Amino acid sequence: MQSIIEKLTDHKIWLAPLAGITDRSFRSICKECGADVVVSEMVSVDGLLYNKERSLEYARFDQSQRPFGLQLFGSNPEIFLKALDVALSIEPDFIDINMGCPVKKVVKRGAGSSMMTTPDIAAEIVSKVKNKLQPKEVPLSVKFRAGWDNSSVNAIEFGIKMQNAGADVLCLHPRTRSQMYSGKSNWTLLKELKQKVSVPVVGNGDVKTIQDVLQMYDETRCDSIMIGRGVIGKPWFFTKIKNFMTNNDESEPTTEEKLKIIQKHLNLTINDKGKQQALLEMRTHFSHYTKGFQGGAKVRASINKSEDVNEIVTLIKELYRNKLSIG
Ligand SMILES: Cc1cc2nc3c(=O)[nH]c(=O)nc-3n(C[C@H](O)[C@H](O)[C@H](O)COP(=O)(O)O)c2cc1C
Repeated sequence: MQSIIEKLTDHKIWLAPLAGITDRSFRSICKECGADVVVSEMVSVDGLLYNKERSLEYARFDQSQRPFGLQLFGSNPEIFLKALDVALSIEPDFIDINMGCPVKKVVKRGAGSSMMTTPDIAAEIVSKVKNKLQPKEVPLSVKFRAGWDNSSVNAIEFGIKMQNAGADVLCLHPRTRSQMYSGKSNWTLLKELKQKVSVPVVGNGDVKTIQDVLQMYDETRCDSIMIGRGVIGKPWFFTKIKNFMTNNDESEPTTEEKLKIIQKHLNLTINDKGKQQALLEMRTHFSHYTKGFQGGAKVRASINKSEDVNEIVTLIKELYRNKLSIG
């Protein structure tokens, strides 16, 4: 078991779970670009029990994506246990429990970051899930936040409690629930957590550059790093990190390399979901892929009206190659 956990956490770069973003095709792309560990979008344990096929859609993965973590959310320990049978049927490499989601719909059911206000229930879930995973040698990670709000920051006590309840890995995004995604994540909490627990700590929050990767490792001594928004619209950030870590090479992938990745992302999504659904869902990605370019807004507007794959690809190519024909 220890060697499996090490494979997940010994200086690894993780793709963060991102609802609406890290579907099967995006995870494949990130893996190809160099992500060491990928995690599914969050999957409801109630959904796994009562709407199995639809929920499993979020969890489907290719063998090439291993090590793959399936992230679950919910609030009822018994439902967690029952849902685990369904979750394990797809043979993920590890299970992650979401105790950080700040979204109203989730917290009002007592799940996500709301768990940080009910640490005893959180520990009961972790302990029960761990008991079920232990004989199968499937590690358990818990992803949580700094706390509920500024006056109730409890990440350290909470992390220790989850470790003692059986979590093998702790992933901390050190913002409070009230912060949602605003302000800055508090890396000092990551450093403190790392000092106080014996299980590996995965640091998360505001890693957007190679400098941030180095700084997070250096300041917090965390074992691995998880990246979310820093790779939306630029999965090649994983490649940059890999190249830097292995060859000290800080160069940017070329325009043509980036276009190849975007094209592949689109093709995989079409294969997975069919053209119509893929084009709809890819709009979010296209809007990120076209950010920061002169003419990007016009391209986005055209893409959002188009149902023609070739037209969309041509527009993105022209934008990247600085040869935009729409005025
Ligand atoms: C669009 C979006 C969707 C997210 N979905 C999830 C999710 O399903 N599960 C989860 O644990 N965190 C989710 N998060 C939080 C991220 O995993 C991560 O903790 C957070 O974005 C901070 O990391 P970053 O600064 O690298 O983005 C989401 C964040 C964003 C922006």
